Amino acid sequence: MIELKKLRKSFFVGGKNLHALDGIDLSIGPGEVFGFIGPNGAGKSTTMRILSGLLRQNSGTATVNGLDTLTDGDAIRRIIGYMPDFLGVYDDLTVDEYLQFFAAAFKIPRSDRRRIVDQVLELTDLTSKRAAMVDSLSRGMQQRLGIARVLIHDPKVLLLDEPASGLDPRARIEMRSLITELGRMGKTIMVSSHILTELGEMCTSLGMIERGKLLFAGSLQDAFARVRAAGAVRERIIVEIEAPANLEAPDTRSLATAALLADSRVQSIDKEPQHPGALSIELTPGEHGHHFVFQILDRAGVQVRSFTPQTLKLEDAFLKLTTGALQ
Ligand SMILES: Nc1ncnc2c1ncn2[C@@H]1O[C@H](COP(=O)(O)OP(=O)(O)OP(=O)(O)O)[C@@H](O)[C@H]1O
Ligand SMILES: [Mg+2]
Repeated sequence: MIELKKLRKSFFVGGKNLHALDGIDLSIGPGEVFGFIGPNGAGKSTTMRILSGLLRQNSGTATVNGLDTLTDGDAIRRIIGYMPDFLGVYDDLTVDEYLQFFAAAFKIPRSDRRRIVDQVLELTDLTSKRAAMVDSLSRGMQQRLGIARVLIHDPKVLLLDEPASGLDPRARIEMRSLITELGRMGKTIMVSSHILTELGEMCTSLGMIERGKLLFAGSLQDAFARVRAAGAVRERIIVEIEAPANLEAPDTRSLATAALLADSRVQSIDKEPQHPGALSIELTPGEHGHHFVFQILDRAGVQVRSFTPQTLKLEDAFLKLTTGALQ
């Protein structure tokens, strides 16, 4: 649905060329919710502006549903909804008037406008605010209004540039469920953020961009697998063991430690600061099964009270991928 091929864009700043996009290749299938992650200045907004036809690339191609941004701008605008990082200010308009205005701008027949505006108000949970002035809305409501606006012409593809920026935790959750809902409706969505955990929950795929280069694109599972394969992150399991009922019994902790360290799949064992008495078991780089740890303890006659594999966090994966650990 979205295809970028060798996409380049530079800006002439301070006497030299700044490569905002340095040859991006990317393919996003229909119905995907694609999370676009990268630090400030990485090129996320530039990519979205090119896709929406606001900017022209220097070279390479960008297509949406097979339509080229350079030649089919009008057709693309009918099938995409682009929510920029900054919403324009519209004084003296109510929420309803604001959406009616955009419905008119999208040439939606007058007889359909009422119904469509009601639908998007409902979907974005703004029905109760329809008579409120736009500039009186909270930041979270304004962001939702931004989404309502891009839904008016029922686009297939949504480009949402940091829809959750500046929102409080509750509003972020609401934004996330709204985007998840739009994904369920079958829309192809590109959503940018610097907050990884946020994207992890709602995205089906992920792209990581830094200084105009795409470092990774694929599913969340692929991102984790790549980090694991490179041995960049070692997996850890926190195990709490039962203290022996009989004080004469051998120290279960040393027993467990010895049995585990005898296995080459276990790298080291540390104390776990948050759970005194628990073992923090680090696996050898590349290992990521958990079952064998349980078996070793069982065979050694150690009773396990709790067993908590520390799953690789999206943040960790991202850091490893972007600090050149995989190059
Ligand atoms: N109109 C412009 N003129 C000059 N430089 C620009 C322009 N637009 C973007 N840039 C530069 O291009 C690079 C990429 O910017 P872009 O806005 O795409 O980053 P971003 O990933 O969206 O960052 P952020 O997370 O801060 O929104 C930055 O170095 C930026 O300064
Ligand atoms: Mg941006």
